[in-house]
Amino acid sequence: MTGQRATEAASLSSSLAEHLLRFHERFGDAPGARLFFSPGRVNLMGAHLDYNGGPVMPMAIDRGTFLAVRSRSDREVHLASTLEAGSLAASLDELPARATGAWHDYPVGVIHHLLRERGPGEGVDVLYGGNLPIGAGLSSSASICVGTALALHHVWGLEVSTLACVEAALWGEREFVGVRCGIMDPYAVGFARPGHLLWLDCKDSSTSLIPFDVDALTVAVADTGIRRDLAQGAFNERVAECARAFEQLRPFAPEATCLRDVEASVVEAHAGELDDTALRRARHVAAEVRRTFEARDALLRGDLAAFGARMSASHTSLREDFEVSVPELDALFEAALGWDGVLGSRLTGAGFGGCTVVLLRREARSGFADHVGARFEQRFGRRPRISFFQGDPGPRPIDL
Ligand code: GLA
Repeated sequence: MTGQRATEAASLSSSLAEHLLRFHERFGDAPGARLFFSPGRVNLMGAHLDYNGGPVMPMAIDRGTFLAVRSRSDREVHLASTLEAGSLAASLDELPARATGAWHDYPVGVIHHLLRERGPGEGVDVLYGGNLPIGAGLSSSASICVGTALALHHVWGLEVSTLACVEAALWGEREFVGVRCGIMDPYAVGFARPGHLLWLDCKDSSTSLIPFDVDALTVAVADTGIRRDLAQGAFNERVAECARAFEQLRPFAPEATCLRDVEASVVEAHAGELDDTALRRARHVAAEVRRTFEARDALLRGDLAAFGARMSASHTSLREDFEVSVPELDALFEAALGWDGVLGSRLTGAGFGGCTVVLLRREARSGFADHVGARFEQRFGRRPRISFFQGDPGPRPIDL
C-alpha cells in the first residue's frame, strides 16, 4: 500500500469507528453490530445514455455511505441516519407499501425486493451516514441502495452476489421510489474498480474495465451546491422526451431497439419530422454515443487530450441540446478549462445543479481549487466545494 492509500484507509477506518459510536448511542451498545462501506460514483463519459441503451464510463469514488447494522431478535426494522432527519420503525411485515418522500424510501425499496426475492429475513437496526454529498450527482441513492442490499445479504446469511445487490438497488429506486433511472449508478457502485474506468454498455449490461492511469491523472469534482431531487420530475421528463424521440425516429431506423441505435445521420435526415425538443434530445444522444466510443479509444491508446476534449464537448451538448445545465455548472466548467493542465470537464450526474467532473494532470492539481473557487465566487458570491477523488474497490464489509 502506498503512503497515500494507507492514510486514506486509516481515515476511512476512523470515520467508521466514529459511526459505530453513533450507532451504539442510537440503538444501544449490545454487541454484534457490523460496518459496511458503499462508494458513490462519478461518470466521466456517456451523459444521459444509460436509459437510452448507450455506453457509459463511470468510476466508483472513495467517498460514500457508511452503514452500521445489527440484526434484532424480532421482525422490527429501524432505520436512522446521521445525515438526514427522520427515521423509520416498522415491522418487516408492515413496511410502507409506497414511497413517502423520505430518505428511507430508498432502503425500504431494497428491503421489499430482498424479502420478495430472497425470502423472509429478521429485523435489523441500521444507522446510515457517510462522506458523500447527497443529491449532488454522485449517486448517493445508489450508494445507499447497493450498500443496504450488501449489508442485508451479510446479516441475513444470504450468498453474497454483487449482481443481486445491483438488481435490488435498481428495483428499489425504479419501482419503489419511482425514479425512471438507467442502470449506470448501481452498476458503477457495484462493479467499478480502482485504477480503471468501468465500461458499461447499457444495451446488454456488459461490463469491462479500462485502465485509468491514477498516477498521472486526477479526477476533481466541483459542487455548485444546488440540489434537485431526481424524483421531483425534471429527470423523468428527460427520460420521457428521449422515449418520445425514439418513437418519432423508429420508422426511419427499423433495426433500432433503443435511441442509442439511431445514428446522427438518421436524426438529421428526419429533423423536420421531429418536434423541436425531441430533435435536440436525439441530437445529444447520437453525438454522445459517438463521443463515448471515441473517448474509450482515446483512453486505450493513451491520448488523454482527446479523451478530455470529448468530455468538454459533452458538456456543450448537455447545455445546448439536452438542456440540463445551469449557469453555476457552466461557470465551473469554464473556470476549469481556464486552468493549465485540465484535460476536460463536464457536468456529471443528471444536471440541473449538482457537480462538474474535471480530469486534470496530477501536477496541475495544486492551485486548481483556488482558481476555480475564486472565479465562481466572483459571480455567485460563495465558494464551491471542490474535492479530489480516488477510485474505490466497491461495497464491502469493514472490520475495524
Ligand atoms: C442520473 C441517473 C443516472 C443517469 C444520469 C445521467 O444520475 O441516476 O441513471 O441517467 O443521471 O447520465
